[in-house]
Amino acid sequence: MTPMKTDPVILALCCHYCAYAAADLAGAMRLQYPSNVRVLRFPCTGKVEPNYILTAFEQGVDGVIVAGCLEGGCHFLEGNLRARRRVERVKELMQEAGLEPERLEMYNLSSADGPRFAEIVTEMSQRLKKLGPSPLRTDAAAAAPASEKTTPQTPPVSAGGAE
Ligand code: FES
Repeated sequence: MTPMKTDPVILALCCHYCAYAAADLAGAMRLQYPSNVRVLRFPCTGKVEPNYILTAFEQGVDGVIVAGCLEGGCHFLEGNLRARRRVERVKELMQEAGLEPERLEMYNLSSADGPRFAEIVTEMSQRLKKLGPSPLRTDAAAAAPASEKTTPQTPPVSAGGAE
């Protein structure tokens, strides 16, 4: 395992209604957490396709967080349950491909969980530091400018119901 020279790059795929609101709250509360997380907003984690996660790893992120509403609280009923099944499937694929599945994790948050969001990012950052840089990481991904970090993003997919 190679020690990391820079902070691990984390992509957080957050649903609009809960996890993204929690991330926003963490910012509004000025909570301290690693700044090397990029937050992408989805209408629902049910819209997070496995290939989005795999592409993120191919492009050199060290870890991916999928964060949706609490179980039973998804605004599209079962999107977060579908997301959890997909995350488990992607972890299996990662294992087969020789990429540590611990680099990917699914969490459930309420919109009031700002402190929990900060905690999750901190935990994932510490976990990734122990694992070392992703074997797929490129210098370009590691050297992304700070201005690209933790800025609210336009949803990568159009608003609408989860499948
Ligand atoms: Fe939040 Fe579905 S709306 S996970």
